[in-house]
Amino acid sequence: MARNKIALIGAGQIGGTLAHLIGLKQLGDVVLFDVMEGVPQGKALDIAESSPVNDFDARFTGTNSYDAIEGADVCIVTAGVPRKPGMSRDDLLNTNYKIMSDVVGKVVKYSPDCILIVVSNPLYAMAQAAYKLSGFPRERVIGMAGVLDSARFRAFIADELKVSVENVTAFVLGGHGDTMVPLSRYSTVAGIPITELIAPDRLAQLVQRTRDGGAEIVKYLKTGSAYYAPSSAATEMAEAILKDKKKILPCAAYLEGEYGIKGLYVGVPCKLGEKGIEQIIQIKLTAEEQAALNKSADAVKELCGVIGV
Ligand SMILES: NC(=O)c1ccc[n+]([C@@H]2O[C@H](COP(=O)([O-])OP(=O)(O)OC[C@H]3O[C@@H](n4cnc5c(N)ncnc54)[C@H](O)[C@@H]3O)[C@@H](O)[C@H]2O)c1
Repeated sequence: MARNKIALIGAGQIGGTLAHLIGLKQLGDVVLFDVMEGVPQGKALDIAESSPVNDFDARFTGTNSYDAIEGADVCIVTAGVPRKPGMSRDDLLNTNYKIMSDVVGKVVKYSPDCILIVVSNPLYAMAQAAYKLSGFPRERVIGMAGVLDSARFRAFIADELKVSVENVTAFVLGGHGDTMVPLSRYSTVAGIPITELIAPDRLAQLVQRTRDGGAEIVKYLKTGSAYYAPSSAATEMAEAILKDKKKILPCAAYLEGEYGIKGLYVGVPCKLGEKGIEQIIQIKLTAEEQAALNKSADAVKELCGVIGV
């Protein structure tokens, strides 16, 4: 039986880290593509040389030529420019849209049956662009943001209560950053709602820190943005698909009336399996939560309007 094939478009900080994590998790053979000559080749070789120590069998190919991605089962797009201090994700819109247009055309040509996971920012507009440009069904174009946002929220809650991260589940809806909608009443520690364990004003501070999670790291790094946690998040989504886990994860999905929103990518809980998004899970929201989600959708709509997708 052939191994799965995972194509990583963009071999920068996230692309390289993703390749390593995918190797460690033995999800399949990896093709790292980038327009920069030598970078994908060097990273692929370096990771391949770690495989005897870490005991994984997989082929790592670094390339500047799209034909190497032919027949990939999953393509993860991280191509684009990241933020620098003082920049918002939205500042990347026009540059990354141009890159996305080029990338998606090639993905459709060489891996027409793949499931496409979009990571490049601004995430929701890039996911919408990838969906529109690819012509793929919505099940096969998924954006990564919610898994990262909820991981950050979980890490902060675990640290606050000095409990294992394994005990903490968190639930977020909506956009990345300012328009994220964390549902505290569905976030738990060993099954106990966090609203019973953390005072409201302190919880509000943790939520705000989660919203600003990306900027906090950009400020430290100065030359780029977070990549370890984003790579872990995208790997979890790829694993759920490649192992047909039917795992419920917060993803950017194209809504066709769910949550009262139509024709836009918004962050909602999705069941991920071999077909990609196999179900969008709908839950009842309070009026306040629905208003926050609508605001999040409006922000996505505005950005999509600028690039006409
Ligand atoms: N969705 C999220 O939650 C999330 C989190 C963090 C970062 N990001 C975004 O992910 C993207 C990648 O971040 P990074 O830190 O890996 O950046 P990076 O600069 O390290 O890597 C990006 C890579 O894309 C390559 N590239 C540029 N144009 C290309 C093209 N036309 N085809 C193929 N490759 C091309 C560059 O050469 C570079 O190697 C950024 O847009 C960043 O904002 C998203």
